[in-house]
Amino acid sequence: MNGKTLYEARCLVCHGSLGEGDYAPISNPAIDPDKTLISHSTAPSVLLSLEAYIAAYMAPGALSKRCGGQCAADVAAYIRTLPSAVTGKTQYDSSTHACATCHGANGVGGLSGIDIPTSYLTDLVNGGGYLTVQDLSAKIFTSMPQTKTVYKTKTLNTKFGSCDQACSDAIAKYIWSTF
Ligand code: HEC
Ligand code: HEC
Repeated sequence: MNGKTLYEARCLVCHGSLGEGDYAPISNPAIDPDKTLISHSTAPSVLLSLEAYIAAYMAPGALSKRCGGQCAADVAAYIRTLPSAVTGKTQYDSSTHACATCHGANGVGGLSGIDIPTSYLTDLVNGGGYLTVQDLSAKIFTSMPQTKTVYKTKTLNTKFGSCDQACSDAIAKYIWSTF
């Protein structure tokens, strides 16, 4: 079995299809390919490689659930292909995509007046809300960045760069796991 198949069978239920983890309050953390050393909450000073961490702790619960040896190597290789929230933050904050200009750092207080707080993302009852990180990525892919250049009294000089699928996935993962 390859890493993707293993990940989907044994990890996705808690960590999500892009490794985005839960909405806040978080009980299952995001998994980011950029993080090279990881510590478990029960041993905060012990830093492990991704492979060693998975083999020692994942999936949690009964030892029979552990993904050790080749399983850990295969899943780790797959995790390194997932979108990076660190890259997503860089793109969100960049002048090319201008997300932060219109929506504010951390989704609050930008020029457009459209906030993207996690409370809004999860608020399906009041007409907001994205059920999955893919829904959020699709919204970004299909309609962001907006090309309107005048907000309030400020004219934006930027010629916005479009955000392709990989860009949308990375930004969606950043928003989902951070805001
Ligand atoms: C039942 C839910 C659950 C499943 C299934 C699960 N995890 Fe986790 N995972 C967690 C929790 C909870 C933590 C936080 C552990 C802690 O430090 O207390 C975690 C932490 C992690 C981390 C560290 C994240 C970080 O940056 O701190 C990685 C990597 C990880 N899991 C990978 C995996 C892999 C790979 C699998 C599948 C083999 C998997 N997990 C299956 C719940 C789960
Ligand atoms: C020029 C200003 C502007 C830029 C740049 C921009 N947005 Fe938007 N965004 C808007 C406006 C206006 C809306 C509301 C209209 C809509 O939903 O299409 C919106 C809506 C959204 C929504 C839906 C929020 C809701 O309340 O439904 C998300 C998510 C979002 N933007 C993310 C992004 C991301 C990510 C980027 C960067 C790739 C970005 N936006 C760039 C102006 C902008």
